Amino acid sequence: MKNVAKHIAIIMDGNGRWAKEQGLKRVKGHEKGAEIVRNVTTFCSQQPQIERLTLYAFSTENWKRPKMEVEFLMKLLDHYLKNELPTYLEHNIRFEPIGDLGRFSPALQRTIESIRTQTAHCDGLIQSLALNYGSRDELVRVFERLRGSEEPLTEARIGAALDCPADVDLLIRTGGDTRLSNFLLWQAAYAELFFSDTLWPEFTTAELSGIIEKFTTIERRFGGLK
Ligand code: FPP
Repeated sequence: MKNVAKHIAIIMDGNGRWAKEQGLKRVKGHEKGAEIVRNVTTFCSQQPQIERLTLYAFSTENWKRPKMEVEFLMKLLDHYLKNELPTYLEHNIRFEPIGDLGRFSPALQRTIESIRTQTAHCDGLIQSLALNYGSRDELVRVFERLRGSEEPLTEARIGAALDCPADVDLLIRTGGDTRLSNFLLWQAAYAELFFSDTLWPEFTTAELSGIIEKFTTIERRFGGLK
């Protein structure tokens, strides 16, 4: 039996280094990175077995970056989402943001909400962008919400209350580092982890396809025996 990568999650790292290598400003790396987001999303939407693609676009820690870079990323996100609507609709992709969106400007929150509602009827790939997302922050918000209840805390109740309620099958990080950086810690409990040295702006759907192919052959035991 081959594994099926129903839920793929990606830590898109290496934009800044790619830009530096090209003699460009860091933000140009993010611009190029957004193009790769589009390619990878469209590719995944054409693979019927992939149900979810969750991409780490802005972490709760990314606010520490220089103000100019943060502002650029906010503008880029706003522009990307507005521009992407026809692609979402054409490929039947549902956009479901995860993270604590309340920290974004009211205008950006409106854009995010508008794209979410306009694609809510799509029943193909779910593309989740993790925005002001941190796994610990997500868990704290869940525990805070559930702690008033009389019912016992169970894995099922916690899992269902997360921003992202689906277990990750395949987690990929580009850019050469081998850490999870506070991304989907609960959901990735049994994920297969792939680390690529490719910088995100150079990541291709051919490389993704190769990783998925390798994933299909791995024996997943979930703590049991085969
Ligand atoms: C890491 O590169 C990437 C990010 C901080 C955010 C990811 C953003 C994008 C892929 C572009 C925008 C996305 C959308 C959906 C519009 P880095 O800057 O940490 O790279 P470095 O490690 O080389 O410095």
